[in-house]
Amino acid sequence: MNNMDILAIDTSCDDTSIAVVEAKPNKSGVKFKILSNIVSSQVKLHQKYGGVYPTLAIREHKKNLSIVLKKALKVAGLNQQKPEIKAVAVTIGAGLEPCLWVGINFANELAKKWQKPLIGVNHVEAHLLVNLLTEEGEKIKFPALALVVSGGHTQLVLIKKIGQYKIIGETRDDAAGECFDKTARILGLPYPGGPAIAEKATEARPLSAVRGRASVSLPRPMLYSKDYDFSFSGLKTAVLYHHKKQTEKIRASKAYISAMAQEIQQAIIDILIRKTLKATREHSIKSIILGGGVIANKELTKQFKQKLKTGNYKINIFIPPRKLCTDNAAMIAVAGYYHLKDRQPKIFKAKANIKL
Ligand code: KG4
Ligand code: ZN
Repeated sequence: MNNMDILAIDTSCDDTSIAVVEAKPNKSGVKFKILSNIVSSQVKLHQKYGGVYPTLAIREHKKNLSIVLKKALKVAGLNQQKPEIKAVAVTIGAGLEPCLWVGINFANELAKKWQKPLIGVNHVEAHLLVNLLTEEGEKIKFPALALVVSGGHTQLVLIKKIGQYKIIGETRDDAAGECFDKTARILGLPYPGGPAIAEKATEARPLSAVRGRASVSLPRPMLYSKDYDFSFSGLKTAVLYHHKKQTEKIRASKAYISAMAQEIQQAIIDILIRKTLKATREHSIKSIILGGGVIANKELTKQFKQKLKTGNYKINIFIPPRKLCTDNAAMIAVAGYYHLKDRQPKIFKAKANIKL
């Protein structure tokens, strides 16, 4: 069985990323190796707008793609003019449509120039398949349950086997990452909100210790609902009201900000873990797979592992390294490998929303 290299591109949001991943098929499956995974982040540029500013993101993607490509090929040790790759994979959704188009057009040009197949990839599938890039990834047992939590998604996906997915739960309003981003903004913390809240949470004392303020407990919306759906907009509203009620002095105090950050983080963690474990029990799950930017939250993964241990769950949990949780093109390459069927270049359409 031959090794093959997949070159992949992701421009779904505010990161421009290109990767080359080697796939080595063997008797029991495939072994993946990242040859390069270049991510050019636009976070600093978007920070002053408190979120992603699409016009700016498009301009940056256009500016960065050829630079990132050059670097990705160089690091992977491939020829710049005609690299020996098997296919070009590109995110076609979900994401910001105008940003997706920049990547799709670029990928299409490359596929034509190099005479390689072009594969359209679902970004959410890539966030869960990223676990196959790790050593442990080979040990995933099915049926597996994936929790994909990012800036745009909160989904529980039942996986019978790779390629056979059923979304059993999802958010009815904001995504978990979006909740981190929006509540961080209320507290005056920078974008992206997740890492900012996580950092402040580590400095927290109980909110009751904030002078002049009784303790607060934020709601955990839909925690006990019978389904596996999520809702985070009520949590954001609760933070907004609580914040509005405070004096300027309290709002600006370190103690208030860090205590709120801890409570926001804990509310999101409680909801994500409870729903995932409920689905795990009710669907006789053999492996839990985590993916998406929010999984970069250390407290979340620590508490996930603790709950599995204390609850005597005898299943493995798969957690990607933090760099592979947030957007990157290596995960697009893995998903692309599984969809490598067509030999001729194709043109894909960008889709802001896409079904698994
Ligand atoms: O997967 P991702 O990079 O992009 C999307 O596909 O959306 O996820 C970005 C999201 C942002 O909302 C960001 O605040 C969140 O992931 N995030 C975190 C952490 N790092 C990134 N949320 C909580 N804790 C973190 N450490
Ligand atoms: Zn993503």
